[in-house]
Amino acid sequence: MVNTTYYQDLTKMNTFGMKVKARCFIEYDSVADLVDIEFEELARPVLHIGGGSNLLFTDDFKGTILHSKIDFIEILEDASDVLVSVGAGVVFDDFCAWAAKEGLWGVENLSYIPGEVGASAVQNIGAYGVEVKDVIHRVYCYDTVEEEFVSFGVEECGYGYRDSIFKDPEVKGRYIVTHVVFSLSRTPQPKLDYGHLKEAVELTGAELAPALIRRVIIKIRKEKLPEPSVMGSAGSFFKNPVVTVEHFARIEAVAKAEHGPDYKVPHYDLPDGTVKVPAAWMIEQCGWKGKRSGGAAVYDKQPLVIVNYTGEAYPEEIVGLERRIIASVKAKFDVELHPEVEHI
Ligand code: EPU
Repeated sequence: MVNTTYYQDLTKMNTFGMKVKARCFIEYDSVADLVDIEFEELARPVLHIGGGSNLLFTDDFKGTILHSKIDFIEILEDASDVLVSVGAGVVFDDFCAWAAKEGLWGVENLSYIPGEVGASAVQNIGAYGVEVKDVIHRVYCYDTVEEEFVSFGVEECGYGYRDSIFKDPEVKGRYIVTHVVFSLSRTPQPKLDYGHLKEAVELTGAELAPALIRRVIIKIRKEKLPEPSVMGSAGSFFKNPVVTVEHFARIEAVAKAEHGPDYKVPHYDLPDGTVKVPAAWMIEQCGWKGKRSGGAAVYDKQPLVIVNYTGEAYPEEIVGLERRIIASVKAKFDVELHPEVEHI
């Protein structure tokens, strides 16, 4: 069924809780429904949203917003790899919960990430050492230009850090994800190398299982990240920047001048010789942790997250805070932070 509403309130459809409206809002609940939608006729621009967990609406939306409610989970093949087909409108964490219950390995580290399955394949969501591309087998889409169904093998999706071909400006909006086939496994394959995850899992003393790791990850996330139902945010607001070794040495020099010669700057050496520096650390070093600005604030437990602190924040307050954070990180470390959150 296709359901169309006009001047739809979007407050509950974006986890930041921005009080904005969409001129036209279309929700559909099956792959076949997509064929009935006359894309040429829709008020422009057209935006397809998932859980609205990575978006910052800066104003009312003057075009059409589409949302999928395609919500099946189906095992296609149960061999050494377990192929599972999941509708784009399934809440990603519901899929993680289902996989944990089935004893299937692969998405347990991605537990409790807000958003839906379709958007996860566009954004290449990631957490605790796993990116969704590691478990994606094939992405099925509707091509709104050729008006046909197409699919992309994982290697055709151009996956990078929070990136894919679906985000390329040239094709953005052209492909609507209908469902994603994931490759999970019944053979244990725990990935516990990120931070203190291994210690946290061992502390439980329980036998390794996807459900156990899921429990531990949810506990860690709840301690660090705001619960969208309690305080609006879009998770990490910025991407973690990657710098050259020489640039990293300059960042280190700034930190050591301030904290003493033994100070260690958190970082990850990447295989190509570059260095990833946590944006959270830089933002904290610039004194932003916990700072408020009108209705917006930098989250006190994880400064990579900007929150709608009062629930009444205006988009301008969020964007203003963003600009000032970018400027101060640039001034102190000569690093240009880029938002992970998409501004609409
Ligand atoms: N840090 C600080 N101060 C803080 C918090 C963190 O200096 O208050 C430093 C620490 O050195 C810490 C490092 O930042 O070791 C990394 O922190 P964390 O493990 O929390 O991860 P992150 O790099 O800040 C990324 C993802 C998160 C994901 C976590 C866990 C991005 C942009 N963010 O954050 O993803 O949950 O790793 O894997 O890559 C999201 O994308 O919305 C998101 C929440």
